[in-house]
Amino acid sequence: LIVAGNFKTFKTRKGTREYLEELEKLVSDSKSEVVVFPPATAIQDRIEKVEIGTQNLYPTKNGAFTGEIGLEQIEEFGIKTVLLGHSERRDILNESEDLIAQKFRFYSKEKLRIVFCVGENLEIRESGEDEVFKFLQNQLININLDYENFVIAYEPIWAIGTGFTPTLEQIETIAKKLKELTGKDVLYGGSVKPENVADILSQKSVSGVLVGGASLKADQFAKIVKIADEVSK
Ligand code: 13P
Repeated sequence: LIVAGNFKTFKTRKGTREYLEELEKLVSDSKSEVVVFPPATAIQDRIEKVEIGTQNLYPTKNGAFTGEIGLEQIEEFGIKTVLLGHSERRDILNESEDLIAQKFRFYSKEKLRIVFCVGENLEIRESGEDEVFKFLQNQLININLDYENFVIAYEPIWAIGTGFTPTLEQIETIAKKLKELTGKDVLYGGSVKPENVADILSQKSVSGVLVGGASLKADQFAKIVKIADEVSK
């Protein structure tokens, strides 16, 4: 199972280093794959068990793209995993389908592992499961599903940072369909916490979780990792 933490725009370089030192001690013997996505200023070399990924990248090795980072900046730290298509980038930073597709194309050529986020808003969820799946399918339309090194993160927008989650049945239904469509592992994200992670990970088609708020404290995130270890699959 994959247990990933997305820090978003939380934590400094120093705070991230302290966090990782604490987390390493707590999860060193975990059988889960543990990945942390700190902000760009805090990306650093892997210590041991916990992999470091990056929350976003511009589709370039380097160049004149003020404010962005590209391949050269992460290669220095041996980073091999990138999060793409997060709803906050789509909705708050106005990232277009086209730009997301360019990023996917560029970083799949570079053989990075891509965690590709999809997710519907509340209005779509309220129009029913078929509409939800149609929407998610569209978010994947410009993406090369044959690329081997990527996983899907299903993150319903209305579940992010709200404390609400879909029912377990709804999570399984969507994860199963996404898995059938793409042949990839599917993670679930949106208000994951120690109290609900066992049930979520017990769903047959869910291969991991992407955690926001509850990943920010090392001991709480380690608790989620421990619970993931106990869910046998
Ligand atoms: P929360 O766990 O805070 O709901 O955030 C989920 C998320 O957006 C992870 O990428």
